[in-house]
Amino acid sequence: MSKSGDDGGGGGEHIPVLLAEVLAAADVRPGQRWIDGTFGRGGHSRALLEGGASVLGLDQDSAAEDAARALEAQWPEQFTWKQRNFKELKTCSIEHGWDKVDGILLDLGVSSPQLDAPERGFSFRAEGPLDMRMDRRGGPTAADLVNELPEGELSRLFYEHGGEREARRVARALAARRQRAPFRTTTDLATVVAETLPHRRAGGIHPATKVFQALRISVNREEEALLAALPQAVEIMKPGAVLAVISFHSGEDRVVKQFLRERGSEWLDTPRHPNTVKNPTHHLDRVKRFLPSNEEIEKNPRARSARLRVAVRNKEPIL
Ligand SMILES: C[S@@+](CC[C@H](N)C(=O)[O-])C[C@H]1O[C@@H](n2cnc3c(N)ncnc32)[C@H](O)[C@@H]1O
Repeated sequence: MSKSGDDGGGGGEHIPVLLAEVLAAADVRPGQRWIDGTFGRGGHSRALLEGGASVLGLDQDSAAEDAARALEAQWPEQFTWKQRNFKELKTCSIEHGWDKVDGILLDLGVSSPQLDAPERGFSFRAEGPLDMRMDRRGGPTAADLVNELPEGELSRLFYEHGGEREARRVARALAARRQRAPFRTTTDLATVVAETLPHRRAGGIHPATKVFQALRISVNREEEALLAALPQAVEIMKPGAVLAVISFHSGEDRVVKQFLRERGSEWLDTPRHPNTVKNPTHHLDRVKRFLPSNEEIEKNPRARSARLRVAVRNKEPIL
């Protein structure tokens, strides 16, 4: 899958991000059990299947189904897909009959096909309903948040999930405008944000980029799902199993990095007892980070902000 930035544009080409690095870390062998928690269009799953692994693919978006059914037809014994949220990673694994697995991959965020479909409402470049739900079976849309959240909440959300430095100013402008007419479309919102931040226009990213990112993360409760999934991943990993997480913006990478630090440190580095107390949750070793090569970024500009973090499960029991 060509990975999305929050730039709202692009071609939707099918290029899995950091694939060579994932495969090198995964060291896939026939008969292994892998969970691809973010199936998308199956670029990574396909490569794992070609390596001989059995794969359970999850995606909360029904739009993943066609690609998933094609892989199920090609590898009926090895591949299964379910429309599920990876925040239920452990339950999904156990329901599939796998109490332990050899590897877990999370390639976070939205896919190019999601971003490039105007009717999904992820992009500020094309007019569409202000939706942004990956799972359209329920839950509030981006329009619901923009039209109904208190101004202070909106401001916090833009700052915390988008890193928008002028969050208050934007929230104030949106609150004033929605009193006259609620927001319904992506371009309507993008225009009002751009009008509120006219000084941003010269040369840089679109002024609405961070607001759109923040709304997408909030609508899909992305941080919550990631925080729920990471400890479950460790619980179902066999000793020697690989965890690989590709993140796309600094907020989600921080969550992954922090988790790997907590589970990857042998010693608790407390101010009173530096490096003298064993970390009771030391479950991971060989923690590494990979960035896309210049060559990959050239071929797939959307890979430019991708970061892959991997770790290997050790033998420490979960207490
Ligand atoms: C970047 S794409 C993955 C692309 C995939 N690796 C490929 O090669 O085609 C991310 C996918 O994960 C899905 N997704 C994001 N968060 C999810 C969650 N919490 N649970 C399940 N699926 C999720 C999205 O719907 C999207 O299809």
